[in-house]
Amino acid sequence: MPASAPTLLDPGLILRQRFAAAALRAFPGVDLPDPIITLSQSPKFGDYQCNSAMPYSKLLSKPPRQVAEALVAAVDIADIAEPLTPASIAGPGFINITLSHTAVASLLAQLDTPDLGLPIDPDAPVTVVDLCGVNLAKQMHIGHLRSTVIGDTLARVLERTIGPAKVKRQNHVGDWGLPIAMVTARLIDLENAQQIDLAKLTLDDLDAIYKQAKQQCQADEEGLQTARAWGMGPKIEAELEAANAEPLAHLARAKSTLVALQSGDPDVRRVWKRIFDTTMAACLATCARLNASISQAHTAGESSYENKLAPLVARLEQSGVAELGSGALIIKLDDMGIPEPCLIRKSDGGYLYATTDLAAIMHRTSSVATGGLGASRVVYCVDARQSLHFRQVFAAARKAGLVAPNISLEHAAFGTILGEDNKPFKSRSGDSVKLGDVIDEVVAAALSQLRARPRAQEMTEPEMAHIAQGVALAAIRYTDLSTERIKDYVFSIARMVSFEGQTGPYLLYALARVCSILRNAQGQGLLTDSPTAGPIAVAHPAEKALALVLLRYPQVVRDVDRTLEPSRLCALLYELAGAFARFFEACPVLKAEDDGTRNARLRLCQLTRRVLTDGLGLLGIPAIERM
Ligand code: ARG
Repeated sequence: MPASAPTLLDPGLILRQRFAAAALRAFPGVDLPDPIITLSQSPKFGDYQCNSAMPYSKLLSKPPRQVAEALVAAVDIADIAEPLTPASIAGPGFINITLSHTAVASLLAQLDTPDLGLPIDPDAPVTVVDLCGVNLAKQMHIGHLRSTVIGDTLARVLERTIGPAKVKRQNHVGDWGLPIAMVTARLIDLENAQQIDLAKLTLDDLDAIYKQAKQQCQADEEGLQTARAWGMGPKIEAELEAANAEPLAHLARAKSTLVALQSGDPDVRRVWKRIFDTTMAACLATCARLNASISQAHTAGESSYENKLAPLVARLEQSGVAELGSGALIIKLDDMGIPEPCLIRKSDGGYLYATTDLAAIMHRTSSVATGGLGASRVVYCVDARQSLHFRQVFAAARKAGLVAPNISLEHAAFGTILGEDNKPFKSRSGDSVKLGDVIDEVVAAALSQLRARPRAQEMTEPEMAHIAQGVALAAIRYTDLSTERIKDYVFSIARMVSFEGQTGPYLLYALARVCSILRNAQGQGLLTDSPTAGPIAVAHPAEKALALVLLRYPQVVRDVDRTLEPSRLCALLYELAGAFARFFEACPVLKAEDDGTRNARLRLCQLTRRVLTDGLGLLGIPAIERM
């Protein structure tokens, strides 16, 4: 274990280590898998169970009870649990473990430090988080919600586990290539015809112009080919050709605009820059509404790799990794288990999405001394529908030796957001939905939810509007983060803003309750600021149950770092809110039977507030202390 390994606070993990040691002592020389330690389903089975006697018995060819007895005799848990006896073994060989109150209290005291049991890992690699990834001239649509919220959350978690200096957010903006050139060309035309004032350009204008430009360039190639293939006759062919002439002219112009853009033509660049600035201003404003820390400094668009592409492709061609296949340049990947080759240059000489991603990998993983970001881990928060793309790009990068073998490339893929009809979320007109509009809708729903509460009378309208923003943010982010990343989910506004069930507003409300108890205590002079005002103690089963959830916090945060799965943290915080509610129900705090009990319970409240605030903060959900 490296010297920097943090102290274990999660009793489940401590027990796993102790039982692993016991298995080694009891059955020396036998290679047994890690022990299985689970939380007990009912207090009559203690707090935790070791369920390994059964699987071990098969490997050892011994009766499971006998294995359980040997484990019980060998295990050393006297410092954290009540002594194990033959009566601790239930059924075929489940070992029931009851943690001692003093051990739980002492673990809690260790959790109650400024870093909440999460010291920064000094050996962790510099990590790039590829997030957001909007495209120029297009409104941020619902699909970018996930790349933004999941990406921002993973970055926040990593900033916590490995330190902010080692986390590099990268917004791989789609700001280059033919579609952007189409829009640029169209804008130049509109400007020349004095039909648009670029100084007043908005993203809505751009969105519309993008659609027009695309349509202008859309030739009915397929129709023409079908007509030819079926020999429909020269008349139809001529008609279709004539109809195609205009789009083809537009396309040719878009291509020449792209060349001008690439060669740095100042006028084309000026218009492109306008598109870029207009898009990014709107995008970053939407990110801010989602409380995602994404700024200009994180923007590394496809354009930033523009002049790296030709040398990269030349290198790949020279080394023989890339080869020509019907005019295009490809990297074959079947030897890496991927039948589809990675296309890096089209037959017309144009580069592709994958080419830019290869250049980006090199930039991200090359050393800081050579101008790179020096990352050894790159995490891509991108839609699961791009899985093949990333498998190809990662495999191509490895095959070409662009990255060292120790560098980890991970696609944190996510599923699709669905509408209430279970189909991909679309507007009534069938267009993709503007993210800003969706946020507005959630805020409105949160506001009407707040108005319906009995407490509504105590609040002013501006107060309520302010809280509604926070509730909406919690609703959106928690919903997006709480389902397993890879799964699709239904975007149900009514459900996400509800104060009941596994929702962001429920957690905010739970936190506000803890805060209100602590405020009352403060008001009564019962709370000193010193966190060591009274000893931490655990006596009542509901106190212990709360403590056992709190103690899992640091490990769950580290698990999110490892698995890139924020839903684990979401689930823990939900459990925490539930455990707190049961504690508060069963254990009076301000009216506790004696001062010692009250102080100990106040410490539990304080610790719950800290963990909830911290955990919500990692999810990008700011606490609302009063609501
Ligand atoms: N702009 C892309 C899209 O909208 C997402 C970019 C993801 N990141 C990357 N390195 N490819 O699909």
